[in-house]
Amino acid sequence: MAFVDVVVMAAGKGTRMKSSIPKVLHHLGGRALLQHVIDTAMQIKARRVVVITGHGAEQVEATLQGQAHLQCVRQMPQLGTGHAMQQAVPVLDDDGITLVLSGDVPLIQAYTLQALLTLCDGQHLALLTLQTPQPHGYGRLVRQGSAVQAIVEDKDATPEQRQIQEIYSGIMAVPTRLLRAWLARLDNHNAQQEYYLTDVVKLAVADGCHVLAHCIDQAWQVEGVNTPVQLAQLERAYQQLQAQTFMLAGVRLGDPARFDVRGSLSCGADVQIDVNCVFEGVVRLGDGVRIGANCVIANAVIEAGAIIHPFTHIDGETLGVTVGQDARIGPFARLRPGAHLSEEVHIGNFVEVKNSSMAKGSKANHLAYLGDATIGERVNYGAGSITANYDGANKHRTVIEADVHVGSNSVLVAPVTLGAGGTIAGGSTITKDTVPGALTVARGKQTSIANWQRPVKTKT
Ligand code: UD1
Ligand code: MG
Repeated sequence: MAFVDVVVMAAGKGTRMKSSIPKVLHHLGGRALLQHVIDTAMQIKARRVVVITGHGAEQVEATLQGQAHLQCVRQMPQLGTGHAMQQAVPVLDDDGITLVLSGDVPLIQAYTLQALLTLCDGQHLALLTLQTPQPHGYGRLVRQGSAVQAIVEDKDATPEQRQIQEIYSGIMAVPTRLLRAWLARLDNHNAQQEYYLTDVVKLAVADGCHVLAHCIDQAWQVEGVNTPVQLAQLERAYQQLQAQTFMLAGVRLGDPARFDVRGSLSCGADVQIDVNCVFEGVVRLGDGVRIGANCVIANAVIEAGAIIHPFTHIDGETLGVTVGQDARIGPFARLRPGAHLSEEVHIGNFVEVKNSSMAKGSKANHLAYLGDATIGERVNYGAGSITANYDGANKHRTVIEADVHVGSNSVLVAPVTLGAGGTIAGGSTITKDTVPGALTVARGKQTSIANWQRPVKTKT
């Protein structure tokens, strides 16, 4: 098969988004609309991807930095889709097929593009079309018998042509050498005084070139984003698609309509995810992992058998978070960057862990903070205890050796080491290293003052 060069049109303004962000940079499933299109182009092994920029060009080009096989061409001013393609063809080679995509049509699938390329076969003009009861606003496919004659834009169509329900999606595959010649012959004698790419159909017919249509009925694949409403609708379509894929792979979802992946999620066997969970960045769930309702999990690895109870927030950012095998986290727990928890660790409600490691079987079950700490095996970290890791200028480490029992409401002033097997009396403020095996008490001694008279309210 011939080489495929993809051209992505992304110069349009996107006025109806009512946003200062260029339209194609708005996010869907955690990725820019334009990035979805580029990623799909890479799936079909495009030789190169040319992005036509215009409105917000600098911002768009900046987000594309560093992607191989990718090149930007500016279209200034924007005189229509045909004019956009005229800017692109000088960087294309005649031995390829040009596949035209739109930067604001994010859900086009690789298998559909593949079918279109097969139809093109290196020699025909192949159009992706949609059969729809709502053709308003789109270019219509005018046929004579079954043969495609032209695409007529909505604004140029006769009342009869407006009845046609087969529309042009904005996506075509065409041999580059033919496209180049046709583009040179375009004019702007139409209702919008624009150079229409769609006019190449008439020129192809005049030249005796076959014009073929691959007609689909899945509107979501070719729907564009013009308004925040459409963006939200396509976001849902995308999430439902992902939900289906996960369920087909065996993942059990509480409700596929309440499941959001804004990055890359991988799941082992027998994973269960309850409603309203959001996954961001790169998340890996091992075999048998269960995620309770209303969890937000980003950049984390959850090992086999671990249970994340409802309302837990995990974000590894760049350092990552790991939750060990058979660990129990939450409800209402917060794991921050660098929280690395080994097997069978328990983290309970309102416990925050940051940049700390906890060895096998350690527990912090209630209302606690562990920051910049190294915690040994089987440590019990009492309710309300905190590591005072920050002196106002620098962070310091707390080391808690194996089998230490930290009583409730302790303050561990770092840097400090709690010796193995030691016990810290509740309410202690620990400022010095503690002796292994010993009970350490660091608080005022309890006294009782007998016959204490409480103050009484004075009468005025
Ligand atoms: C276009 C098609 C129409 C089709 C519809 C599908 C033409 C003339 N018409 O119409 O047949 O049904 O798409 O959505 O092609 N763009 C540029 N430079 C420009 C103008 C547009 O890069 O000068 C880009 C836009 O950013 C967008 C794409 O081309 O990504 C389509 O442009 P748009 O203005 O939305 O074309 P439509 O009028 O919708
Ligand atoms: Mg459009």
